[in-house]
Amino acid sequence: MSNKVLKIGMIGGGGGAFIAQPHQRAIHMDGTRRVVAAALHPDPKIAMNEAANWPYPLKGYGSYDQLLNEQADLPKEERLDYVLIVTPNFVHFDPAFKAVQLGIPVMCEKPLCMTLDEADQLVAAAREKKVPFGVAHTYLGHWTTLLSRHIIRSGLLGDVRWVDSSYIQGWLATKLEDSDNMQASWRTNPKAAGKSGCGGDIGTHALMQLRFLTGLEITSVSARLENFVPGRMLDDHFTVYGKLSNGGKALVRASQICHGHKNDLAIEVVGTKGSLVWRQEEPEALTILLPGQPDRKYWRGCVAANDGFLGDLPAWLMAEPKIPSGHGEAFHDAYARLHRFFEADVRAYWEGKPFKNDGSTYANVSDGRAGMAFIDASVTSSDQDGAWVNVSL
Ligand SMILES: NC(=O)c1ccc[n+]([C@@H]2O[C@H](COP(=O)([O-])OP(=O)(O)OC[C@H]3O[C@@H](n4cnc5c(N)ncnc54)[C@H](O)[C@@H]3O)[C@@H](O)[C@H]2O)c1
Repeated sequence: MSNKVLKIGMIGGGGGAFIAQPHQRAIHMDGTRRVVAAALHPDPKIAMNEAANWPYPLKGYGSYDQLLNEQADLPKEERLDYVLIVTPNFVHFDPAFKAVQLGIPVMCEKPLCMTLDEADQLVAAAREKKVPFGVAHTYLGHWTTLLSRHIIRSGLLGDVRWVDSSYIQGWLATKLEDSDNMQASWRTNPKAAGKSGCGGDIGTHALMQLRFLTGLEITSVSARLENFVPGRMLDDHFTVYGKLSNGGKALVRASQICHGHKNDLAIEVVGTKGSLVWRQEEPEALTILLPGQPDRKYWRGCVAANDGFLGDLPAWLMAEPKIPSGHGEAFHDAYARLHRFFEADVRAYWEGKPFKNDGSTYANVSDGRAGMAFIDASVTSSDQDGAWVNVSL
């Protein structure tokens, strides 16, 4: 495999942006990828000015159209290897669709886009152009998430009966959008965020965690989207009861008004033989609960390849942890793992080799679409006072 450093173009990231920063750090963590170009801001002057003053060399563009269109004219070896989209939700579809049309792989932030129709178009385009497409569901990148997926899918805990997946925050407990907080302002505006506020923003993470761990779909939903902060245009409290594709049941919850909760993403998967519990605020460990037995806590970095209970663990999973247990991995490492897995697919793509992009190590465009279908059905159900609504799978 070539050891050339992959060139990444970033769309968004200027003007005090949030998630572009963890992405940049994660991209540069392995030394095999580098952000080399960016359209940092919707205002061309600000975009160019910020690029010129960026902490590392960066080719600035006045717009993402300029950044993308230039690619077609460049010799293949000078083109960007992939683009990263870290803009608000309403600026996901257009650059993502255009990049795919140009044959450029895309890593896009979640939620995938604004509507199910847009999601369908992105799935169709990525399929037609055979371009790797990742969706940045960060928490899939924790080693413990990958181990949880392996444990549950190996059948060790029996059939899944019940899943409780929740993402609880407290930062929007007041009307922060009335201040100049950029992140709060677009997240509470349906024109920029989409049909659901809290559900689209973090409920999609809770859903993705459920789907990734169990391999199950939520086939129908009974939902309540509520806004507790007076005058807010979108839900800040999102509660969805769901039927699972294996006949089990699930609760997917998200809230942004629960004081004191920071990024409290948690999942409990209850099988017929045992349960698994994971919390992102303690992302290095997962706990297995078995009837009549002591709780088993597994820490990243000190899981034996065969501890007599878990059985043989896949070699690629055992090779993944890079630092000993107790030297904590967290958010940035999870993002780095997504980019690392995506990089492998991108390299294969440009070398004309088969690539996976199958959702087994990071979310792909179909997973992004599943998030949009879930939101769509949840909004419809809530509008009908919680009536059961089928999810478009
Ligand atoms: N995966 C996660 O854990 C996670 C966490 C936070 C945010 N997100 C997602 O990341 C995205 C960005 O969220 P954020 O909180 O960083 O938002 P933000 O408001 O902090 O940053 C948005 C950035 O997009 C830029 N931008 C807006 N329109 C643009 C355009 N037309 N061209 C170029 N740049 C443009 C802004 O200048 C800014 O740099 C959202 O979709 C959000 O849902 C994901």
